[in-house]
Amino acid sequence: MGTFLDFLKSNSVQPRADIAGIIRRGYLEDPDLFHRLFVFLKSVPESCFHHCSWFRDALIETGILIATAGVIRASIMIVPLKHRLIATDLPSDEQPSAIFPIYPETLYLIDQIPDHAMSILDIGTGSGVLSIFASEKSPIVTPVDINDRALLFTQFNAVLNGVGNKIFGQKTNLLSSLAGNYYDCILANLPFEPVPPGYSYYLHSDGGTDGLKLISEFLSQINDEVIKFGQIRMVAFSLGNDKHMIIEDVLRKKLGNSHFGIEVEILAKPLKFTEFAKRFESAPQYKPWLTSTLQNGLQSLFFIGVKIVPSRTFYWSVSRNSSRHWGAWENPVNWNEYLQLAP
Ligand SMILES: C[S@@+](CC[C@H](N)C(=O)[O-])C[C@H]1O[C@@H](n2cnc3c(N)ncnc32)[C@H](O)[C@@H]1O
Repeated sequence: MGTFLDFLKSNSVQPRADIAGIIRRGYLEDPDLFHRLFVFLKSVPESCFHHCSWFRDALIETGILIATAGVIRASIMIVPLKHRLIATDLPSDEQPSAIFPIYPETLYLIDQIPDHAMSILDIGTGSGVLSIFASEKSPIVTPVDINDRALLFTQFNAVLNGVGNKIFGQKTNLLSSLAGNYYDCILANLPFEPVPPGYSYYLHSDGGTDGLKLISEFLSQINDEVIKFGQIRMVAFSLGNDKHMIIEDVLRKKLGNSHFGIEVEILAKPLKFTEFAKRFESAPQYKPWLTSTLQNGLQSLFFIGVKIVPSRTFYWSVSRNSSRHWGAWENPVNWNEYLQLAP
């Protein structure tokens, strides 16, 4: 039996649409079973499928469900998000090209999608989640990613949400293949975790030693041709301390002479860098990396939303978000909490 990725690679439009239909029907007919399998990632006894063997058999066939010794479990996550279904890899999937599960930052960016943009670029689309939401507000949405696996998930999620004819992923390294194009809005959830040098980490989260490598390259590529009177909505981690966040230096350097204003919103209580860094304890360069970061006075990690908006002159502002709780932002969304809170 092949994997879900094998299914996506080797099947074209109709088989994907058929499976998307089966997933949607299964969700509507038995949401509890669906949640147990795909949201809470439980192993479910075969007997629970007696009323929907069509669902079980078709999804085993595609590698979406795996049957072993009388129990069935999911090989991917599929989460209900504001009436859409979004498939991603499992949070436990350790392959470097794994598809980013839904994190609180994604929920933040969904709320940031502007209402009247003619064209939206979703850079680092991953599962395609932001493009799916953007496609309801904008006639032209372009999801891009450097990861082929992401483009396959994006196309599948587009079909699963009825926008397969509107969203077409493109492979590109940041903006490199998009020269000459123009967008009203760029949504950017690029990799932003600080990672010790030489450590092999997830493509979706490896932001280099200070977390800002990709964001900095992306900002260097921004120019009037790409986004003349448009705006950028981005999320990031910034190392820093009580007085300063290092992303300010990068943004001022890259955009200080431009016609943009920058509005930074601190979305959660800063995390102690020593706490965050523990996840990399096994990395050979862990100690020197941690020591030099702390010696540079960077003890905190800030979770921020960044709005880059057209302005006659450059400006920089920082505010703290006090009105909204984004969850424990270093973890995937807490689905128990989310599904109970959802209207
Ligand atoms: C944090 S994930 C965001 C996924 C999704 N947009 C979301 O909000 O859930 C970052 C994505 O950026 C992609 N990425 C990493 N490096 C890239 C590059 N150089 N150019 C384009 N995309 C890149 C990764 O493959 C990954 O899908």
